[in-house]
Amino acid sequence: MSAVLRDVVVARLSDLQARGRVVVSVDGVEVGVYFHAGEVRAWHNVCPHQGGPVCQGKMMPRTVQPVREDRKSAGPAFHPADRNIVCPWHGFEFDVLTGRHPADGRVGLRAVPVRVDGESVVVSV
Ligand code: FES
Repeated sequence: MSAVLRDVVVARLSDLQARGRVVVSVDGVEVGVYFHAGEVRAWHNVCPHQGGPVCQGKMMPRTVQPVREDRKSAGPAFHPADRNIVCPWHGFEFDVLTGRHPADGRVGLRAVPVRVDGESVVVSV
């Protein structure tokens, strides 16, 4: 038997665009709602590693290590567009748009259905 989902307005789109993230509690379910690169995503605030409050973590550019023509590292740099959520407990990172761990695509955040209705950001929980 599947549970019936309920639509709940959790933010104004303009506020989410300005802040980049809000973490809300809906009937005891904590949800992180994100705006990045024109997209809205929502994730359960539970890290797949050990259950930490992943959505409380910082959003950081994805670290990259470009390789020069001589096949040596050009040193660490940050990706210009990709952003990761960094879990505050042990530092696991997850792409804000896909929810996937950058090194192991089998590991990821659990999505919450989210949509934009006019100026309202609506999650289904
Ligand atoms: S609980 Fe998130 S990294 Fe360990």
